[in-house]
Amino acid sequence: MKFNPIDHKGISLEDQVMNWSRLNTRPYDKTKVDPYTRTRGILMNSIEVESILFSHQFARHTSDMETKRKLAAVRRIEQQQQKAINWSIPAEETDLEVTLGYEQVAVDLTAFLARNEPDPYVKSALNFALLEDFDHLYRYSNLYQLTEEKSASDIIGDYTEITVGRPTVLEHRHPADDVRRHYAKKTARFVTKLHVMTIIAAEQQTMNFYMNIGDRAEEELARGLYLEIGQVEEQHVTHYESLMDPSMSWLERLLLHEYNECWLYYSLLQNEPDRRVKQLWEKHLDMEIGHLHLAINLMKEHEKRDPLELLPDEMPPIFKFESNVDYVRQILQSQAGFNAFGTEFVSADNIPSDYRYHNHQKKVNAGGAPSEMVIEKIMDEHGNDYRQELAGPHPVEKYRQRQAAAVH
Ligand SMILES: [Fe+2]
Ligand SMILES: [Fe+2]
Ligand SMILES: [Fe+2]
Ligand SMILES: [Fe+2]
Repeated sequence: MKFNPIDHKGISLEDQVMNWSRLNTRPYDKTKVDPYTRTRGILMNSIEVESILFSHQFARHTSDMETKRKLAAVRRIEQQQQKAINWSIPAEETDLEVTLGYEQVAVDLTAFLARNEPDPYVKSALNFALLEDFDHLYRYSNLYQLTEEKSASDIIGDYTEITVGRPTVLEHRHPADDVRRHYAKKTARFVTKLHVMTIIAAEQQTMNFYMNIGDRAEEELARGLYLEIGQVEEQHVTHYESLMDPSMSWLERLLLHEYNECWLYYSLLQNEPDRRVKQLWEKHLDMEIGHLHLAINLMKEHEKRDPLELLPDEMPPIFKFESNVDYVRQILQSQAGFNAFGTEFVSADNIPSDYRYHNHQKKVNAGGAPSEMVIEKIMDEHGNDYRQELAGPHPVEKYRQRQAAAVH
């Protein structure tokens, strides 16, 4: 029997309120935590933040008092969940270490979704941005070696490679080339809707995180790298949010948010080795089932349609944080040289020389890019850049070590 959240009752909203000490989660030990326990926390924090921001936007777009009150009640709980998750990060974990976790989320979440995405256009959008976040992980890892004199592999383990992706300096495109075609709500597979909603939340939280902590770094180069990559995360949010069908109603989107939370908590608890964290995922799943029923009832009341017609009979296959080394290599080999041309992804060689991309590149990269400077600096000081290439030399010859800084 496959799991279906609507067959369960979950916890009623009144019983979901927690006291301050329950919320004040004991932080993990950064030297012992499984890297994927860290990434699960970062992902679910993103999901909760999105559920809160979405709910606020919904509340600002409805005049129905009862809907506003119900949204406020659920939102207060989403806020509690966000605290319970995010307070598990210890103070001794530096901003840059948390950042490495964020980019590891971006790599292994995106790769998993791309591998399992049935819609070819959505899949190509995931593959496209995958190589960009993959490169961010490399740039931050080099900054980490330079500023904290530590190896990023201590944080991300041997699950994920650290090497050149699509070089960050080349990712700065004209804003018009970040907008994608959207799926159609009636014909899109349900799992596509979940994938898109999940990746929007993760990229949006990364964008917000860099907006807030990017200026907490001391060195000018570090501050520069955060703002440069922060601007790319803005592009990634634009890229992914435009994939979603904008004609879905607010209530339909609420339903999808709550279902997505159920899917993810159910998914993550299957592979969580940390007993305490697993209990948190189980509790949050029960809460989300309560939210899902509330969203179902709101839709029945206000839209006079059967929400169950929008939901699948059984939950789509689970999401899992797992190593994607071979997949990422395959995409690197075939697509590192891609660029966006309007809504399409094409080989950069096919972009006309007078295209708006080049003009934008000239503007932002005049005076150099921090993402390049960080590599130049480490080459100067250490003779080589920092990498973790687990499956052999870089699949793209021009990005092999010692040549990496001279690629463009
Ligand atoms: Fe939630
Ligand atoms: Fe990134
Ligand atoms: Fe990103
Ligand atoms: Fe929820």
